[in-house]
Amino acid sequence: MNIIDGKKISHSLLLELRKTIVDKNITPGLAIVLVGNDPASHLYVEKKEEAAKKIGMDFNRYLSVETTPEKEIIDCIQFLNKDPDIHGIIVQLPLPGNLNTDAIIKAIDPQKDADGFHPENLSCLLANKHCPPPVTAASALECLKASGEPLSNKKVAVVSKSDILYTPLQYLLKAEGAVTEHFTELDTNIKKYDHIIIALGQPKCLTKQYIKEGAVVVDIGIHRLTGDEDSIEIVGDVDYENVKDHVTAITPVPGGVGPVTVAMLLKNTVDNCLKLQQ
Ligand code: GUN
Repeated sequence: MNIIDGKKISHSLLLELRKTIVDKNITPGLAIVLVGNDPASHLYVEKKEEAAKKIGMDFNRYLSVETTPEKEIIDCIQFLNKDPDIHGIIVQLPLPGNLNTDAIIKAIDPQKDADGFHPENLSCLLANKHCPPPVTAASALECLKASGEPLSNKKVAVVSKSDILYTPLQYLLKAEGAVTEHFTELDTNIKKYDHIIIALGQPKCLTKQYIKEGAVVVDIGIHRLTGDEDSIEIVGDVDYENVKDHVTAITPVPGGVGPVTVAMLLKNTVDNCLKLQQ
């Protein structure tokens, strides 16, 4: 069984970005809007800051308390939209429940979208135009490709509740010659598929009974489980121990899709910077 090393993939993407920044003599600027004090979100933002600084990108955090009104957050985004030194804007998700995530994401200038979550960028991707791809879908594909297994004419099951991940993944996988099917819950039919990408949000739910022997499995889920004496275990949607000897390749959690996603959003920011400076 091959472990798909997300840290290694991320490292080589970051080296390429560092080279572009030096060669083109640019200083891309990234801004992260973080609302509330969810410890996991703060940890993810720290990882993004660390990676941004490593490649020579300017990094700015805009922190606000959980009770901040939606208008104030949108005003902050509009201020960042106008700032010529900012080329990438991220609103860290999930937002507190009182805020309308769609309205807030829509306030980001699509040309400064670092996550590729803006609906205009999704339409643009589907219309085959160059625009920032959604980072989660792009990272899952990068991990699947890193397995070294061919994708052409292969069947890939995407297991996720919503279309937000499936739609761009279907498009990106089609470009690789693969056929995709969307499953919104676990289903024994998934076993007929050559590869599986899962983002169901249920810890350790994917076991070998759903997986074709020799498949590649990409796990987008991430959960913090509290064990005895408050110990914390980080796990994905896949029951890793149960499936590891049954698959050809698998992404671990942590250290799989997560680090690649960070590199992808920095890549979108560098690409945005190059485009905006043309
Ligand atoms: N929360 C967890 N992952 C992500 C991500 O890739 N982007 C944003 N904006 N929030 C997240």
